Amino acid sequence: MSTIEQAAKRLDELKRAGMSLSGGYTLTADSAGGEGYFAGDFSQTEDSLSREIDRTVEQVVELDSARPPHNDDSTRHVDIDLLALAARSFITPESSHSQLADEFRVIKRPLLVNARGDGIAPIRNGNMIMVTSSLPGEGKSFTSINLAMSIAMEMDLRVLLVDADIAHSSVLNYLGLPKSKGLLDVLLDETIDLSDVLLRTNVEKLSILPGGGHYKHATELLASESMRRLIEEITSRYSDRIIIFDSPPLLVTTESRVLATHMGQIVMVVEAGKTPHAAVKQALKTIESCPVVLMMLNKSAATNSGGYGYAGYGYGTY
Ligand SMILES: Nc1ncnc2c1ncn2[C@@H]1O[C@H](COP(=O)(O)OP(=O)(O)OP(=O)(O)O)[C@@H](O)[C@H]1O
Ligand SMILES: [Mg+2]
Repeated sequence: MSTIEQAAKRLDELKRAGMSLSGGYTLTADSAGGEGYFAGDFSQTEDSLSREIDRTVEQVVELDSARPPHNDDSTRHVDIDLLALAARSFITPESSHSQLADEFRVIKRPLLVNARGDGIAPIRNGNMIMVTSSLPGEGKSFTSINLAMSIAMEMDLRVLLVDADIAHSSVLNYLGLPKSKGLLDVLLDETIDLSDVLLRTNVEKLSILPGGGHYKHATELLASESMRRLIEEITSRYSDRIIIFDSPPLLVTTESRVLATHMGQIVMVVEAGKTPHAAVKQALKTIESCPVVLMMLNKSAATNSGGYGYAGYGYGTY
């Protein structure tokens, strides 16, 4: 079967699995021309389809469903102030009918289809999802938290939200939670186990792995062999969950590029009307190893309500 036929088959599978792929789904770098900005109306080329097949279809393997689900071994519990969180425009179980909650239903859908293999071949490590962007401030943490909250509200899914942007960790802060040990402490102190720092929350299916304390060489540590081992440990211990990594911007530091090599899926946040076209192109080049990259246009004025939110979502190719 040619790569184009394989692409068509993959897209058919996705459609059969209930995903709408019409209009604005695939991003090509030159749609705006020159130094333009990404917009919601993207076209798909045969080349990009071929690259998708190289990365997606040929690398698909069965998720390790034989492995027994891991119980939540964390002893620590924190209460997120959900009213305060909703007031800051985040999704909460009580605001499940908001426009933002609806937008995240659309955003999470292809990720879950890929992770679970609903009617299609699952992606290797498809439950490991990194949220990144080219530059700082495009909305990675906002997206990670809302995505985690939205998925945790699914009937049958548990979520682990990892703050992997340890140099600028902000997940606890956004959730109104006090500083807490996390990823960095596990990396630095071998007597600390993941379960010692994992936080269960009052959102039943949501757990958090904080970034942890500050450390001068945090960046080097994230790209280290210990980090690789830790990611492998997270993958095997929490294989029954969707794991979302809030991560640093790709063009500012190199940690996200290393993280990307462990991920099954990447959500690439692009700030509407701001991130230069060339920056997105350059950032995408650094994560070519990941089987699936989904582009998400954030802070767009072109939402249904004309408000400030998400518009446009690209599936898998660039
Ligand atoms: N869709 C959105 N609607 C409203 N506000 C948003 C949206 N996306 C991001 N923001 C706001 O934009 C600011 C930057 O967002 P955020 O902290 O998530 O970016 P970031 O990419 O994680 O930044 P950094 O690179 O510093 O980690 C925050 O004030 C956040 O609340
Ligand atoms: Mg952030």
